[in-house]
Amino acid sequence: MIVTVGNTKGGVGKTTLALNLAIARAIAGRDVWLIDGDRQGTAQTAITVRSEAGRQPRIACAQYADGSTLRAQVQQVGPKFQDIVIDAGGRDSTALRAALVLSDVLVVPFAPRSLDVWALADICSLIDEARSVRDGLRAVAVLNNADASGQDNEEAVEALADFPQLQYLATPIRRRKALANAAGQGMSVLELSPKDGKAVEEITALINAVFNSI
Ligand SMILES: Nc1ncnc2c1ncn2[C@@H]1O[C@H](COP(=O)(O)OP(=O)(O)OP(=O)(O)O)[C@@H](O)[C@H]1O
Ligand SMILES: [Mg+2]
Repeated sequence: MIVTVGNTKGGVGKTTLALNLAIARAIAGRDVWLIDGDRQGTAQTAITVRSEAGRQPRIACAQYADGSTLRAQVQQVGPKFQDIVIDAGGRDSTALRAALVLSDVLVVPFAPRSLDVWALADICSLIDEARSVRDGLRAVAVLNNADASGQDNEEAVEALADFPQLQYLATPIRRRKALANAAGQGMSVLELSPKDGKAVEEITALINAVFNSI
């Protein structure tokens, strides 16, 4: 399956979630390819940190910030892998547009904040465009950096009704240090020691919702 984690809004947790998805699938025994489609290259850097630490499983990772290269590589090399996870950078780019046309699923992380919700209009127009080229892109929105309490999570989810392109996945990821700590070591929260059980639960629920419920 080809999954893109994308949102034209920056800093919403795309790289963090892409790393967790890719590593979790590799732990589950799948042949996984993580593609960093962002010029910043933070997913690639995290995987370099991981491989320098000798951590298993090793994750195949490549960086293609240019859309036509990304498309050509996925078409040529992609069939060798069972799952491809693309981290597509925090702005409109040729890499993001190419990824949307290639993907089975787009995961759109967003924070429970008005500015984040309003910004979804932009990625939704790219979803429309990708669907006009190739039918069948499933686009799901997931709350990331969700609050531990208060009304903001709920209100943000209600505001999603303005974006029929996006299916809401009721598997929010709360703001948890474990996610930031793990990503900084090129790890998934599934591998972190000591374990943050709640982070593991949330990421596992997200992965099941993305990969197992087409
Ligand atoms: N659920 C979370 N809990 C705590 N920290 C988080 C969470 N998700 C992301 N972060 C932190 O938020 C920051 C932004 O996350 P990340 O780099 O994954 O976002 P991004 O969407 O890939 O950003 P960019 O648009 O710059 O590529 C990082 O410092 C990351 O560690
Ligand atoms: Mg990123």
